[in-house]
Amino acid sequence: MLADYKNKKILITGGLGFLGSNLAIKLVELGAEVELYDSLEKDQGGNLFNIKPIRQQVKITKAKLQNARQLKKAVKDKDIIFNIAGHSSHLDSIKDPWVDVETNIIGQLTLLEACRQANPKVKIVYAGTRAQYGKLQTVPVKEDHPLNPLDIYAVNKISAEQYHFIYQKICDLRVVSLRLNNTYGPRHQMKHTKYGVQNYFIRLALDNEEIKIYGSGEQLRDFNYIDDVIEAFLLTGINPRADSQIYNLGSGAPISLLDFVKKVIELAGSGSFQLVPWSAERKQIEVGDYVADFNKIKQELGWQPQVSLDEGLKMTIDFYKENKKYYWD
Ligand SMILES: NC(=O)c1ccc[n+]([C@@H]2O[C@H](COP(=O)([O-])OP(=O)(O)OC[C@H]3O[C@@H](n4cnc5c(N)ncnc54)[C@H](O)[C@@H]3O)[C@@H](O)[C@H]2O)c1
Repeated sequence: MLADYKNKKILITGGLGFLGSNLAIKLVELGAEVELYDSLEKDQGGNLFNIKPIRQQVKITKAKLQNARQLKKAVKDKDIIFNIAGHSSHLDSIKDPWVDVETNIIGQLTLLEACRQANPKVKIVYAGTRAQYGKLQTVPVKEDHPLNPLDIYAVNKISAEQYHFIYQKICDLRVVSLRLNNTYGPRHQMKHTKYGVQNYFIRLALDNEEIKIYGSGEQLRDFNYIDDVIEAFLLTGINPRADSQIYNLGSGAPISLLDFVKKVIELAGSGSFQLVPWSAERKQIEVGDYVADFNKIKQELGWQPQVSLDEGLKMTIDFYKENKKYYWD
């Protein structure tokens, strides 16, 4: 089915970031015509090095989602939009809610309006998040679990997901939301711990530094390697069966944060860890165990993770060993 991407016109918002650039590389391999729409926001993962292998084969539009005029041009004539641009910091969204609202609410509505006006039948795959569930009442979590957001970011991601489904009703957009869990792999930002901290742990280990884990580190996490997540985007984008659906992703092999860190240190061959007391601000947004039930996407679209944590970590470590200078000093 992925062969159907050949010659498809694709827009990726947030296309220079972690998920967007990895997806773009795969889409170019499949023969799609790809435009990347990204404003290279400060402190986020946008990085031109991410698209080095395909730099000459993609169009780049450097603009904000909030720019309605540019967006209308970009969405026109596209077959599929992977809507990945987002502000991702839970902590920042509490400290400065307006920044999060700008991208995750205003930007998202601007995109949907642009589609309504310039391309009302386009298919959109939205990058949702496990954070929409908040603290889990039942583990593993299914898509119909109540949404109990713990921060402004999560509230905004829920709203934006729902805006997508509202626009599906008011025009003919075809919408899918993927509620992503913790994803690791090549091309993530490695500058700070405001989001994607599992990737930052790899930086600390490679620099032979100490990784600080809040509390006991016993909380379960469900990590996916980037290539598996990209496969889920590709399947949901091309398969009409996914239209109108929400899907969880998961690993099928949850692991405690502590064991994850021990594995990172072992595979990197350097680094150490220490358990430290929770900071008040981190404790406030901690959700406890997170394990996803991904049977829905497995049964309906045949997706399941292919890359084990050991394999994925080895590939990630090798990538950053070779390309460290493009990600941190
Ligand atoms: N990576 C994960 O583990 C994960 C997990 C759950 C959800 N998500 C969701 O996926 C999305 C992207 O995550 P990522 O890891 O690729 O982040 P990232 O920071 O690597 O990429 C985001 C990209 O979006 C761009 N961007 C941000 N605001 C923009 C705006 N207003 N206009 C245009 N471009 C803008 C940034 O410049 C950046 O290149 C986010 O919406 C996040 O909520 C990611």
